[in-house]
Amino acid sequence: MQTLELAVSAASGLEAVVRRELVSLGVDKAPAHNGKLTFFGTLETVARCNLHLRTANRVFVVLSRFPAATFDELFEGVRNTDFSLLPDDAAVTVRAASQKSALFAHSALQSVTKKAVAEAFSRRGLRSLPETGPRFELEISLCEDVGTLLLNTSGAGLHRRGYRKLTGQAPLKETLAAALVALSVWNPSRPFADPFCGTGTLPVEAAMAACRMAPGKKRDFDFLHWPCFDRALFDRLVEEAEAGEVRPEAEIFGSDLDPGQLELAEVHAREAGVAPFVRFFRADARHFSSGLARGVAVSNPPYGERLSDEREALALMRDYARAAARLPDWCFYLLSPLDLEGCWGRPADRRRKLYNGNLCCQFYSFLAPRPASSGQNRR
Ligand SMILES: C[S@@+](CC[C@H](N)C(=O)[O-])C[C@H]1O[C@@H](n2cnc3c(N)ncnc32)[C@H](O)[C@@H]1O
Repeated sequence: MQTLELAVSAASGLEAVVRRELVSLGVDKAPAHNGKLTFFGTLETVARCNLHLRTANRVFVVLSRFPAATFDELFEGVRNTDFSLLPDDAAVTVRAASQKSALFAHSALQSVTKKAVAEAFSRRGLRSLPETGPRFELEISLCEDVGTLLLNTSGAGLHRRGYRKLTGQAPLKETLAAALVALSVWNPSRPFADPFCGTGTLPVEAAMAACRMAPGKKRDFDFLHWPCFDRALFDRLVEEAEAGEVRPEAEIFGSDLDPGQLELAEVHAREAGVAPFVRFFRADARHFSSGLARGVAVSNPPYGERLSDEREALALMRDYARAAARLPDWCFYLLSPLDLEGCWGRPADRRRKLYNGNLCCQFYSFLAPRPASSGQNRR
């Protein structure tokens, strides 16, 4: 198989988690630049990454790189790109991104790129692009006047696992939820809880990880429709992945005050195929408690969009911190735009800046004060 330069996009702050996942898939080095980690692989690597990555946004093939300080340079760079992965009837769409570059108007970048693609295809004897075939989404990304032309292999973002048919009030993106789980000290031998679970994204992602379930096994990807890719290879990778699935060892549960959200959580767990391994129930997080030892609780609690709601959210966090103090061998993780250290009465053991959509948040870690001893999870 042809060696390709590949790139995986990661949300700001999650590059190291995505890299860790890539390493576990056998990728040697993946330096990060401008929100993307790059490495070399084949179309099989593309399939493996799309199927297995939990925390990345999309997987791309890097088609070319060139100076792009002017539209002429951009046109030439795109026109001279090797488009051999694309069939004559490729339905080409173009997205644009620009950072610290002289060219920044997205619509102009898109139209110049599309014209240059048509010009490149004219060398195949095609006078115009018929565009009747499978979708090929290109991304022209400019950074400091260097253009990178990328081919999106995933299609819709990897957070679209296929289990969320319904949306709750403020659901967490599946990829961010998986990253929060991966950034915590949790491993499948320890109980996992989300006492503010809403539509259940965090417990469902924890359960999928505990089952070693490939997150992309139920969804469609653009590359699956390309003539250059052998669909049987993907089916084999899914079979291999399913053969490696296991039953989680420890309890995974989510609770919330809102019965409507809990109903959605149940649906999502069923759709994801992890319903037998996750328990959802109605409970007030102010009285959070558990008979299990050495648990890990990961949540994005309400933060309140208005000032009055914010005061209420902070009061809720103070009560939650008091409940947490009664479980000294548990670790608590919270994603919030609010300053929660005051509520907890101590500085967090670690804070990471992460974005929940456009909202700048801190991911607070409040670890168990004494080292957790290995052993039983029952008190
Ligand atoms: C930001 S949402 C969590 C979204 C969730 N991570 C998801 O993916 O859908 C916060 C949740 O906290 C719940 N909540 C608010 N106050 C609560 C309380 N006192 N006890 C338990 N849950 C509460 C809300 O019903 C809401 O579902």
